[in-house]
This record gives sequence, C-alpha cells and structure tokens, in this order.
Amino acid sequence: MLFGSATAAYQVEGAWNEDGKSENIWDRLSHQEPCVIAEPMVTLYHWDLPQKLQDLGGWTNSLIVDWFTDYSRVAFELFGDRVKYWFTINEPDSICDLGYGVAKLAPLSNYSGYSDYLCSKNILLAHAKVYHLYDDEYRSKQGGTIGIVISAPWQEPESEEHAEAAEEARQFKWGIYANPIFSKKGDFPEVIKQRVAVKSMIQGFPRSRLPEFTSKEVEFIKGTSDFFGLNHYSSALIYRNESVYGYYNQPSLNDDTNVISYEDSSWEGYYIKIAPWGFYKLLTKIREDYDNPPIFITENGYATLGGLEDHDRIKYFTQYLDAILDAIEEGSDIRVYTAWSLMDNFEWLYGYTLRFGLYEVDYESPERTRTPRKSAYFYKQIVRTHTLDH
Ligand code: NOJ
Repeated sequence: MLFGSATAAYQVEGAWNEDGKSENIWDRLSHQEPCVIAEPMVTLYHWDLPQKLQDLGGWTNSLIVDWFTDYSRVAFELFGDRVKYWFTINEPDSICDLGYGVAKLAPLSNYSGYSDYLCSKNILLAHAKVYHLYDDEYRSKQGGTIGIVISAPWQEPESEEHAEAAEEARQFKWGIYANPIFSKKGDFPEVIKQRVAVKSMIQGFPRSRLPEFTSKEVEFIKGTSDFFGLNHYSSALIYRNESVYGYYNQPSLNDDTNVISYEDSSWEGYYIKIAPWGFYKLLTKIREDYDNPPIFITENGYATLGGLEDHDRIKYFTQYLDAILDAIEEGSDIRVYTAWSLMDNFEWLYGYTLRFGLYEVDYESPERTRTPRKSAYFYKQIVRTHTLDH
C-alpha cells in the first residue's frame, strides 16, 4: 500500500503565463469576469473632506475641481489594477444641500443662499473632470467602469393637484445632478433655473443664485457616467406650500398599509417606511427620462435601534428587491445591488444610535464584536441563489 496526499498543477502552481506557457482552458474560464469572486467597488469621495481644504472653502471653491482630480489620479495609479468599479462622488445632494444648505451634515456651513448651488456646480465639474481623466488615461489600460452615485427618494404627490410640486421636488433633490449628466440636453433642470432666479429677483439681485454653466461645460459634463449609481431608502409625500422655502414640503409618508415600526426607525426627521412602490416608480422614471441607463443600486437599507431579530429589515429588503424585479421585467437595466450596510456604523450626526447593519456591532465590547442578524442569513441566501423566496 502506498500513501500520499494529492494536488494538481492548475490548483496549486499558479504562474499561468510564466516561461512561455500558453493559456489553457481553465485560465480562459477563471479569468472571465463572472469568476471574480470579490467585485471591490470604490467610492473616491464619501464626505470626509480634509479640514484644510474646507478652510479654503471646500466644495464652494472652484479649485476643488483640480484638487479632486489630483487625488483621484493617485487612487487610479495605486489601485486601478485591482479596482474595476469606481464611484466618483457619493450623494452630491447630501454634500451640498445638507452640508452647505440646511446644515445637517459637516461642515454645517451657515446658509448663505449661494454656497449650496456653488457646491453643486463644483461637484458636477469635479466629477466630470475625473470621469474624463479615467476615460482618457486609464480605461484602456485598466479596463474599469466609473460613474457618480446620486441619492434619490421617491417624491409622491399628495394628490393629483400636487403633481407639479412633486416633480419640482424631484428635480431639486436629485434631478439637479442627474439632468446635467444623464439627460440629452444636459445642464441644470429648467425648473430649478426658473425657481432660483425668481427667488433672487425678489431679493433684488440681478443674477440668479444658481451659477450658470457655459455651453462648453454643459458638454463637458453630459454623458460622464457609465451607469446611474443610485442610493434609495424611502419615499415622501409632496404638496405645494408657497409659504415654505422651496415651495413644497415633505411630510412623512402616511400609508398605513405599509408602515413599519414608527418608534424604531426615526431617521432624518422622517420615518423609513416600507414603500416599495416608490422605488418602482423611481426606477421607472429613471428608465424613461434618461434613456434606460444601466443602474447600480449602491445603497438601499433600513435602520433600527438594534436587536438580532430584525424582521422589519427582512420585510424591507424582500419588498424592495421585489420592486426591483418588477422594474427589470419592464426593461430597467439594473446590474448591481448593494445593501446598506454590512455592519452597524457611525451614522453621521446620529452617531451610533441608528443601526443599519446586517451585522450587529457591540460597541461596549473592546473587540467591537460583530454578530449576524437574521437579515444577514436572509441576504446571504439571496446572494447565493439570486432568488427571492417568499
Ligand atoms: C447615505 C450615505 O451614503 C451613508 O453614508 C449613510 O450612512 C446612509 N445613506 C444611511 O443614512
């Protein structure tokens, strides 16, 4: 009797193209994209601007277009061999509106009436410049894909008479970034140009507070995203109210058939409710308004105050994934779904109170122990099987 332990060349040796060896059938198969098990996707800017740059004006200083481009070049040089999915900027509206407008996120800049729109313009130019940099100098060598991530809730009119207000709200919230990049015409949406200009005339300024793009800049920005990166959480009801800034208001959604624990999930002054029909309507609108771009859903998730038995989160994911399936059946080109979030984390101004994780983090333990919630097993199954079983 002879004893041994076995290996095979392909399974242990590597060196697939060393020393004149030619490609074999397993080289061919395992180098194809679906065989890549771990698909890193990197966001270049997810809100942590160096304070030194903020002291120079941050996103309101047009020099940031070049600062961001220089930084992105470093990232492409260092990581571009391994990273094939790049997101330039995460949620421009959170950066500009919440950072420089209504002051709910850093830098909590005092509202000036100008800085949020200056930020929007610089964000779009910075994004576009980095897109062109990648396209011109790195894409052919590195073979990746690059785009922006826009945060879009669904704005539902309270009744038909408020349809125009709801559309206006959509444009102010996310059309302001989507239109310049994804629409045929480019540029800021007309309704924003009109609304903001009217406001400033009331204040006696001859020019709009919304900075203009030159026609060259409009062309420079148009088409600069290989996909529509989309963060979506919930929906809001919109009604016309001329007395509030922006001419509309967003009460929390009041659809009792789909309400989940009010007490448990207060977030952003609203409640995250299960309103999958809002997601479906949003995906449909993106398909129709922007010529059916590939969509990468980069964030979608549900917050609780903790606990491993997160049935509400499972319910949320089930119904939102179902809405995605409906949109796909009608022709939406949805290619990526990323749940927010892998584990509980620092939820900005809410600190550690709100928990979005598939894994619970024990902040009291020195090891910050991570324990899978029920939803982690549920999601694992979906990732494995690519099916929704309910
Ligand atoms: C938006 C942001 O990208 C992320 O940082 C945040 O934690 C989640 N959505 C939830 O608010």
